[in-house]
Amino acid sequence: MDKIEITGGIILRGEVAISGAKNAVLPLMTASILSSGESVIGNVPHLRDVRTMGSLLAHLGFGFHLENNEIILNTNKITSVDAPYDFVKTMRASVLVLGPLLARTGKAKVSLPGGCAIGARPINLHIMGLEKMGAKITLSEGYIEAKAKRLKGAAIHFDTQTVTGTENLMMAATLAEGTTVLENSACEPEVVDLANALISIGAKIEGAGTSIIRITGVSKLKPLDYSVIPDRIETATFIAAAAITQGEVKIKKCMPGHLEAVINKIKEAGVKISNKNDKLTVKGPERLTSVDIKTVPYPGFPTDMQAQFMAMMAVAGGTSLITENIFENRFMHVAELRRMGADITVEGSTATVKGVNSLKGAPVMATDLRASASLVVAGLAAEGTTVIDRVYHLDRGYEKIEEKLKMLGARIRRVK
Ligand code: EPU
Repeated sequence: MDKIEITGGIILRGEVAISGAKNAVLPLMTASILSSGESVIGNVPHLRDVRTMGSLLAHLGFGFHLENNEIILNTNKITSVDAPYDFVKTMRASVLVLGPLLARTGKAKVSLPGGCAIGARPINLHIMGLEKMGAKITLSEGYIEAKAKRLKGAAIHFDTQTVTGTENLMMAATLAEGTTVLENSACEPEVVDLANALISIGAKIEGAGTSIIRITGVSKLKPLDYSVIPDRIETATFIAAAAITQGEVKIKKCMPGHLEAVINKIKEAGVKISNKNDKLTVKGPERLTSVDIKTVPYPGFPTDMQAQFMAMMAVAGGTSLITENIFENRFMHVAELRRMGADITVEGSTATVKGVNSLKGAPVMATDLRASASLVVAGLAAEGTTVIDRVYHLDRGYEKIEEKLKMLGARIRRVK
């Protein structure tokens, strides 16, 4: 199993380019199921999750080819309509095949995801929505089996905003008979990007990016030819890396508009950030100032940036309260940051982070994707050497992270 070794205390300087967004490319790949032909997706990051989704689509019978950040999918033939447990347990986003498969073929069989490192993460709202659209759903032996001759438009209200739930139902509704209205939809940029991609192949969708999305079904969609938006969480992780090392970094090919809440909080912590078009310039202060955050759905502070922000606050002057409102168990990084000398206590959904003067390098364990990113950020600032185990979590969502950080001067290497 690969490890990452970081010798901290180096000021990061230089330029880094952001890759396509993991959480945008995965739904786009499953949107290819909705039409027959050759779908092309550009600005694709080389990530473990993208390869897993590619294998799942190949299992359904598609041709899948990834080269030079472009995916070509031949979606002419569907030979299987099931997403086996092996895929779903490796990557929960596999559940995004459910809506499109059901819409195109009238049936789908998808393994129920179990709990995961950050919370229980049920998919009851995906199922509720498809049932409202007329699907017959049965659960047996750990699988959801869904059937529908043709889905029917419906009024669907989400009790909780769900990103992949909104995406699954939006995709299903594009080929349904009549109009579907999704109330209390997720407003994340990745939902808007998926809607834009679907509109570009003939879908009728209004309101993506607001809490009410209206989709009028059509009988056929064209194959995709679409490019993925930049990854806002990768961008924010590099802002944190620059900020915590007193660095001066230019971040290129990003969309600062997707990060207002994060940028405002990081500025409050004393970091100088300016942006122009698709570029950000970040200059870290001598010492960060403690700031409180609460994670909420977009456009608020994202849960996917909570762990990396906590690493920054671990060395800030003062005490910071960090409240996690989206997932019930997303504090696994706390114990690892403590091993590096952080002073953090957790009570319920709030972590109290008392900034220490410096962190110390230590062997630590990555427990999920963003937790591992927070350990990288902490390791960059720590005195001495940090060795991060279970790096495969990091490889799910960060393209060439050690190469990119090395270009900025970090002393980081992968140990096989
Ligand atoms: N929820 C339900 N029932 C459902 C669906 C969700 O109760 O049917 C709850 C969840 O348990 C959670 C909340 O609703 O408490 C929000 O979960 P959501 O469904 O929005 O999460 P997701 O769609 O499974 C996506 C991202 C996550 C990101 C969350 C929140 C993808 C592929 N994944 O997950 O990304 O944290 O939205 O923004 O888009 C990551 O990239 O590290 C990651 C975990």
